[in-house]
Formats: sequence, structure tokens, C-alpha cells
Amino acid sequence: MVTGPVIRPRRLRATPALRRLISETRVHPADLVLPMFVREGASEPQPIGSMPGVVQHSLDSLRAALVEAAEAGIGGVMLFGVPSTRDAIGSGATDPDGILNVATRLAAAEVGDALVVQTDLCLDEFTDHGHCGVLAADGSVDNDATLERYAQMAIVQAESGSQLLGLSGMMDGQTAVVRAALDASGHSGTAVLAYSAKYATALYGPFRDAVESALVGDRRTYQLDPANRREGVREAELDIDEGADIVMVKPASLYLDVLSDVAAMSPVPVWAYQVSGEYSMIEAAAAQGWIDRERAVLESLVAIRRAGADVVLSYWAVEAARWLARR
Ligand code: PBG
Repeated sequence: MVTGPVIRPRRLRATPALRRLISETRVHPADLVLPMFVREGASEPQPIGSMPGVVQHSLDSLRAALVEAAEAGIGGVMLFGVPSTRDAIGSGATDPDGILNVATRLAAAEVGDALVVQTDLCLDEFTDHGHCGVLAADGSVDNDATLERYAQMAIVQAESGSQLLGLSGMMDGQTAVVRAALDASGHSGTAVLAYSAKYATALYGPFRDAVESALVGDRRTYQLDPANRREGVREAELDIDEGADIVMVKPASLYLDVLSDVAAMSPVPVWAYQVSGEYSMIEAAAAQGWIDRERAVLESLVAIRRAGADVVLSYWAVEAARWLARR
């Protein structure tokens, strides 16, 4: 006669109540941040073809969506501007009347107490060549000239009411330069979110539609090679040394190993960005009826939290917060 196993892990999986009690990882609405696009001159929200359900907001639709986000109890919003004109140095980024700065003032006034209002600090949406920095005479992205633009951008964003600046440009030394510019201009209370381990991935494709990116070519001279795990940790280390308040790994789902490594070493909070391609892949499969949309989305979020993210930037933030609230 075969004796049954003494150790039975299935015992703790027997009922929904037991499974809930035993769950190692939770996602709370407050752990989610919603990225939002605001289009200069738009009078109506514009759909984004490659991101069904996501729009480029007008200022009015932004206001309404911010109120909804606050009501859903998410942690914050990350604003991106889509300007109507672009130039070589991305002038719109440092114009106090540029679309991102206008939207930031609106958001800070409307929901600044309920949500952490955050801004993308990068030039790519504002440059006519689409790169994250300014170009040198030979066409390469000029690291140190770009740092000067980031320092100016940081001050304008802080003055517009952004509480957390998302440094997504992957220039060397950007965290130190932005920190120093903020401190020297009376903004020592404005925090820095360093997109430390930001990879040169195919998964930003739909985002480039969302911001109508002018980029020709790629960002491989500044974003990380997807093959490199150790280098992601190295970038996080540098940003922490330069004074980052929070570090980030981006994309999330295909980079959970990097996320786990960074979470293991970081003395500051670690966030992850579930990027546009991660959104669109699940949306596309769900639209075909090939996967269960709600289950796939919630599983993706719990997996990112499980790997070590304290907070997840996600285009599903508000919808997921509502699902989580009724569980
Ligand atoms: C740069 C920036 C990008 C994303 C966020 N900030 C694009 C890029 O580096 O090409 C991508 C986010 C996404 O794909 O959802 N401003």
C-alpha cells in the first residue's frame, strides 16, 4: 500500500479565504501610477491606434481623468506632453507655457493633494529629431549639452508644481545635475525618480505613436542593451550615489530579473514601468478572445510586484484599482 505524502502544500490552497490569507504579494491601488498624455491644442481626447483605451488628452479631458484617478485611489500620475511644434533643442520643454508645464500646473491645482503629480523629464517629445537629448555636429546625442537642458527643464517642472521628476533620458550624470539644479533654485523638496535601468526595447513602439515621436533610428547609444543584467544594477547604483530618491527598471515584465537584482541592493524605493508594448500585447490578445483580460492584467501587476517593485507605472492603473477595490 502506498502511504500518502505527509507534506501537503495543497492544504493552504483549498479555499479562496485560505489562498487570500496565504498570498505573499498584494497589489494595492496606492501602488499604481498612471502615465497620461496631454496634447497641445486638442479640444477633444484623441485615441491612440496602437494603445486601445488610452488617449492623448485635451486639457478638459485631462482634468476629468485626474479626478477619476484620484477617486480610484491610485498613488499618482506621470504626465507626458505632446507639443504641436518641435525644434532641435526641444524648446517646448522649458517654456513655462509649453503643454507639459501647463498640464502640470492644472494637475497640481486639481488633484495635487490626492495624487503625486509627476512629470517626464526628457527631450524626446519636444525635439524635431526625436532623440532624448540635443545633437552634436556629427549627429550623435551630446551628453553634456543635454544635461544643461535637463537642468533647465527640472527647474521649470518644479516651478509648475511637479513633485517628482521622472528622469527618463539615460544621459550619464543626469541625476546629479538635476539634483544640483533643483537644490540651487530653491527646490530641494522636489524628488527625483531615476529611470536607472531603462532598456533599448522594442516595447516602446506604441508609446512612440502616443507622443507622435519624430525619431528615426534608435536609442541604443544611450539606453541599455537588453542582454545586460549586471549593467542594470550598475546604473541603479550610480543613480543612488547621485541622489536619486527612487530608482526604476523599465520595461517591467521582460526585465523581472533586473528588477529583482535592483530590489535586492537598493536602499531607496524601486519602481517599474509596465510600458506601452506590455499594455498593447495583452490588449491585442484579449481583443481576440485569446486570454482573459482582467486576469492577465492583474497577474502581470502581481508578477512585477513579486519581483520587487514597490510601485508600478501602468496604463491600466485606474481600471486595475477599481478591480482591486471590489475584491
Ligand atoms: C522618454 C520615454 C519613453 C517612454 C517613457 N519615457 C520612450 C522612449 O524612451 O523611447 C516609453 C514608455 C512606454 O513605452 O510606455 N521620454
